[in-house]
Amino acid sequence: MHAWVDAWHSALYGPAGFYRDARGPAGHFATSTHGPSGRLFARAVATLALARGCTQILDVGAGRGELLRELAALIAAGDAELTLMGTDVVPRPGDLPGSVGWVQSAGGADLPDLGPLENTLVVANEWLDVIACPIAAVDRTGVLREVLVAPDGTEGWGDPAGTAATIGPAEADWIEQWWPHSGRPGERVEVGLPRDRALAELGARVHSGVVVAIDYGHLRGQRPRGGTLAGYRRGRTVPPAPDGTCDLTAHVAVDSLPHDTLTQQREALARLGLARANPTYELARADADAYLAALQHNSALSELQGDPLGGFWWVEKAIASPR
Ligand SMILES: C[S@@+](CC[C@H](N)C(=O)[O-])C[C@H]1O[C@@H](n2cnc3c(N)ncnc32)[C@H](O)[C@@H]1O
Repeated sequence: MHAWVDAWHSALYGPAGFYRDARGPAGHFATSTHGPSGRLFARAVATLALARGCTQILDVGAGRGELLRELAALIAAGDAELTLMGTDVVPRPGDLPGSVGWVQSAGGADLPDLGPLENTLVVANEWLDVIACPIAAVDRTGVLREVLVAPDGTEGWGDPAGTAATIGPAEADWIEQWWPHSGRPGERVEVGLPRDRALAELGARVHSGVVVAIDYGHLRGQRPRGGTLAGYRRGRTVPPAPDGTCDLTAHVAVDSLPHDTLTQQREALARLGLARANPTYELARADADAYLAALQHNSALSELQGDPLGGFWWVEKAIASPR
């Protein structure tokens, strides 16, 4: 058996890891960047970039380039002037527009050389939830211990938190500050320290601009006592097993991340000016295409602002260039 953090990381990013699968994330689950809502989501991202004076967008954990293609279409239509770049664990997708830069990454908390990031909006949609983290649980005697796992998902006990291989003093401090437990047997803790560090490292790569990580998550005081680790395969939830055949994801402790603001997606989109259209019967008679487009806009906006996507957290941090 291995510590969850190690088994999880290898299952997603090892040589035969889940995220190297040709289908890409979109073959297994939907995000804000997919389908008709992806166009509207791209518009929100471009609006944010321009509002913050950014001239470039970097998509971290770009999947197979879904968001980048929508952004490229906006640029081609003259709606924005931005340079685009993405990174994920696979080579550059063949159907990306030639103007879009691409860097292959190792995956998880590791980031590749991303070059100089000046006036850049870095967007990481559902990246942090797939950065593996150590898992601890309270045993029958009330002691919080590292949880180990076999490839088929069977779990076993490791050492007590604070002295375990992947839950040492730094992780124990994180637990105390961010995810205190009640000592009730069975309670679980997903230690977010690797995610905090990964986002801090991403921010450190940016010379000037804004970093926005978007993910499902929770706040101190409302942590899920049984943990949130889940598996996904081809649109279905499956028991989490670190065997490379399914996604492994856990909600993000968003308040422990480096940030200026935490805003839920429904509000973030509203602040960026995304609002429902009001297609009238007169419009339907005069311009059927415009009427249909307005209905599609409303449906995409409902998708992005409803449950569950509307409850996702936008974790935002501005980075000013040093004087
Ligand atoms: C849940 S998917 C989200 C994909 C896309 N952002 C979307 O919204 O559809 C997470 C993606 O992050 C990628 N990823 C994980 N760690 C990464 C890293 N260090 N650098 C680049 N991509 C990474 C995975 O390979 C996967 O494609």
